[in-house]
Amino acid sequence: MRRKLAAGNWKMNGLRASLKELEKLKAAHPDPACDILICPPATLLAPAVDMCWSTPVQIGGQTCHHKLAGPHTGDISAEMLKDVGASAVILGHSERRADHRETSEDVRMLAQSAQEVGLTTIICVGESLFQREATNTLDIIGGQLSLSIPDTSNGENLVVAYEPVWAIGTGQVPTTNQIGEVHDFMRDRLEARFGYGVGKSVRLLYGGSVKAANADEIFAISNVDGALVGGASLKAADFTPIISALE
Ligand code: G3P
Repeated sequence: MRRKLAAGNWKMNGLRASLKELEKLKAAHPDPACDILICPPATLLAPAVDMCWSTPVQIGGQTCHHKLAGPHTGDISAEMLKDVGASAVILGHSERRADHRETSEDVRMLAQSAQEVGLTTIICVGESLFQREATNTLDIIGGQLSLSIPDTSNGENLVVAYEPVWAIGTGQVPTTNQIGEVHDFMRDRLEARFGYGVGKSVRLLYGGSVKAANADEIFAISNVDGALVGGASLKAADFTPIISALE
């Protein structure tokens, strides 16, 4: 059985004052029936880890460098994330792919360094609206998936998030059939790559305009094992009902 995962991606949002949201989350979910992960900006990682240490709320990074240390001004390594107490990292988010021109080959190198230090690696894939309208969504997802996962991966500590670019922050959500089609396809691909048992154990998240109002419907789709939530993860009052919908 795959344990469900509610992951919050705060993106470039959050000042010290935002840490109070973590207090509220901890209080609202003292013994959750799913995993809870918050990925705050790098500036809040250390205080967030301190605040959530030995609670069900885990803390993760939003990206890492492919090297573990060295002359890379402004970057953060997977080893640093691990050292600060993060348990996971989001990689290949479409905003990183767009803003920093990260390719799937780049994502594979980042994922390799994250896996080397034992971080849970959340690899994001997703098609643009143009690609969806050209009806080659599954080709795009298949390509991103096979290129972004390191050759050395054995499928453990791996999570894949399907985030259609056109659904992120837009309020536009794919139909349940569209989400189901992509998630079933990803499951098949992972089973083909890692074998039935391991392929079945990789958690698949949906991300893109998830809110309390649509969470039940999305979580009822087969092969959806949770969500990667942006805007609605910033406030505990918005994220809590999404977590509860997963439990
Ligand atoms: O990584 C989460 C994300 O891109 C979805 O953002 O704001 O549409 O939930 P949002």
